[in-house]
Amino acid sequence: MGILLRNGLIVTQNPDRDVFHGDVLIENDRIIQVKPQIHADGHQIFDMNGKAVIPGFIQSHVHLCQTLFRNLADDLELLDWLENRIWPFEMAHNSESLRTSAQLGLAELLLGGTTSILDMGNGKFQDEIFSQMKQSGIRGYSGKVLMDTGNQPYKETTREAIDSTEKLIKKWHGPADDRIHYALAPRFVPSCSPELWEGVKSLAGNYELIIHTHSSENRKELQLVKEMTGQSNVEFFVKNEMASPKLCLAHCIWVSEDEVKMMSETGINVLHCPSANLKLGSGIAPVPRFLQNGINVSLGADGAACNNSLDMFTEMRLAALIQKPEAGVTSTSAQMIFDLATLGGARALGLDKITGSLEPGKKADLAVLDLNKVHCIPADNIYSQIVYSARNTDVQHTMVDGKWVVFDRELKNFPYEEIVKNTWEQVQKLFERAK
Ligand code: GUN
Ligand code: FE
Repeated sequence: MGILLRNGLIVTQNPDRDVFHGDVLIENDRIIQVKPQIHADGHQIFDMNGKAVIPGFIQSHVHLCQTLFRNLADDLELLDWLENRIWPFEMAHNSESLRTSAQLGLAELLLGGTTSILDMGNGKFQDEIFSQMKQSGIRGYSGKVLMDTGNQPYKETTREAIDSTEKLIKKWHGPADDRIHYALAPRFVPSCSPELWEGVKSLAGNYELIIHTHSSENRKELQLVKEMTGQSNVEFFVKNEMASPKLCLAHCIWVSEDEVKMMSETGINVLHCPSANLKLGSGIAPVPRFLQNGINVSLGADGAACNNSLDMFTEMRLAALIQKPEAGVTSTSAQMIFDLATLGGARALGLDKITGSLEPGKKADLAVLDLNKVHCIPADNIYSQIVYSARNTDVQHTMVDGKWVVFDRELKNFPYEEIVKNTWEQVQKLFERAK
């Protein structure tokens, strides 16, 4: 028996960007039909009258391990924030606290309509993140964060970093009906030795993996990269033959014209995180310039420790608004930004053939929004409503792989009350360990 979503406002994100009142037929994990009226018997019917059915959001840069540090690391610039708060906290994780952190983040993401993520994992106990991703029902990638050099407390040799990564790849690249995958996660240029980058490059080639890292976020970071390599970030990736459509760079705020050209020529993906960029005082990424140069741009909340939420509605709204004073009011339209939150994310994750739009043959990854609320009406453009007025609490249901992971605002695979209770307990214990 399949699932028939009947009479919703379907925001397809197909090549014609069709939006119409109609039905979606789902069988197993796939969308079978998307049409104004589907005549089919024997399916479980859900009435979507008055609701918008949209492709699930794809967040291309999150840190599930940092959800437990929410509201505990405010008003610091990147390098101080990392050295004084984030690295000691990440080091202090044990498997219980990391499990709670991942569950807390995944609960928030699914309740807010996010169906796929690219996660930067933790240095230790990475299995917990994968296990919780699998349990939650989300689609996505994670990978153990890699750091073997620089001013940081992770004491891992290059060999250990590479060997433990390879073990995790063998275990986690492709289980759970192909929902969960491995993405290599060297943290950023200042925390990885040239030998570690060589190891990452070789694993990426052998296993055809995404390389997920941070780049060009903060001016002091740029200075460090210049001192260490004599190059800019993008130059470093190009010269070391890592620049490709499988390279995902979070932030890309401080990039030169030459770097933009290289990014465009090599197909590098930008993972744009507007809240984190403002909160850490890092700057504003030149998104209109990227788009004009044909560079793929996607959106992510980054971690709850620098945001302090994982809400795609906030990211979309900010991504649109922050460009307007400099680049002009028409530089970012609601429709363009909704593209970044869906299709841009799917491209960054290499999943554009299977998710990011509501089209026959694609996986049934979607969110159902109830926008008939005082803060969302009136409207004559669904994209304006979603990007400028809607909130994450307007997400009524979320589906991944043809299964409801949230229904009537209730998580299906995680116990909400237990996560809340564990969060308070685990953060207290983590604080003690981090002292
Ligand atoms: N650069 C290196 N590590 C991090 C991180 O955890 N968060 C952000 N925002 N930037 C980084
Ligand atoms: Fe980040």
